[in-house]
Amino acid sequence: MLAWIREWRIDRMTDKVARRPHGRAARAVYGADDVHSFAWQPVLDVLQLTAADMLLDVGCGGGVFLRRALATGCSATGLDHSRDMVALARRTTNERARVVRGSADALPFDDGEFTALSCLVAFFFFRDPVAALREFHRVLDPGRGRAAVYTTAPEMRGTPAAPYPLATRGHFYEDDQLVAHARAAGFATAEVQRHDGAQLLVARP
Ligand SMILES: C[S@@+](CC[C@H](N)C(=O)[O-])C[C@H]1O[C@@H](n2cnc3c(N)ncnc32)[C@H](O)[C@@H]1O
Repeated sequence: MLAWIREWRIDRMTDKVARRPHGRAARAVYGADDVHSFAWQPVLDVLQLTAADMLLDVGCGGGVFLRRALATGCSATGLDHSRDMVALARRTTNERARVVRGSADALPFDDGEFTALSCLVAFFFFRDPVAALREFHRVLDPGRGRAAVYTTAPEMRGTPAAPYPLATRGHFYEDDQLVAHARAAGFATAEVQRHDGAQLLVARP
């Protein structure tokens, strides 16, 4: 098969299942109540959400983590660039949530609008990690803000967490690179925790 056709097919498949999910099968996957549930507790442990918090979930998919977060009493906003995922998340969340279509590297929000930011299993699709982290930093409250970014570690390439050929479309970073990206984006503190082969970048403005 011609190389460019093979690459085009991999791009199309990656978009359909994960990078910009759309279609009936994607709606079924991301509409499930437990998709990526392995990532929730580490993120919740870091964010310690309360009713006083305004959470932004970037790459919110079908809104599954928004629903879990809303159970803490916080208010929550989801953002995703997939039209199908935005529609799904709007259908499955309650009146304390709003869901907006947009891109991680150009967030349609005011400076300091949120007290907490989550990003689950989406960061490795972002083309410019520092641009996205700069936006995360900008929209967080400088005093109370904190960010938790759960992403797939480089050694997970080729495992069910990042199977080939989809893994060829991901951007993987060593722990110290993630920290350096967060610092370059303006975060005052940044560290990486490890959870079952995944990385959890924890950063504060
Ligand atoms: C693998 S899904 C994870 C969805 C959700 N966080 C979850 O845990 O179920 C990745 C999501 O990130 C979204 N996404 C990828 N790149 C994005 C970008 N640059 N801006 C906004 N959303 C993006 C995709 O549309 C998709 O919904």
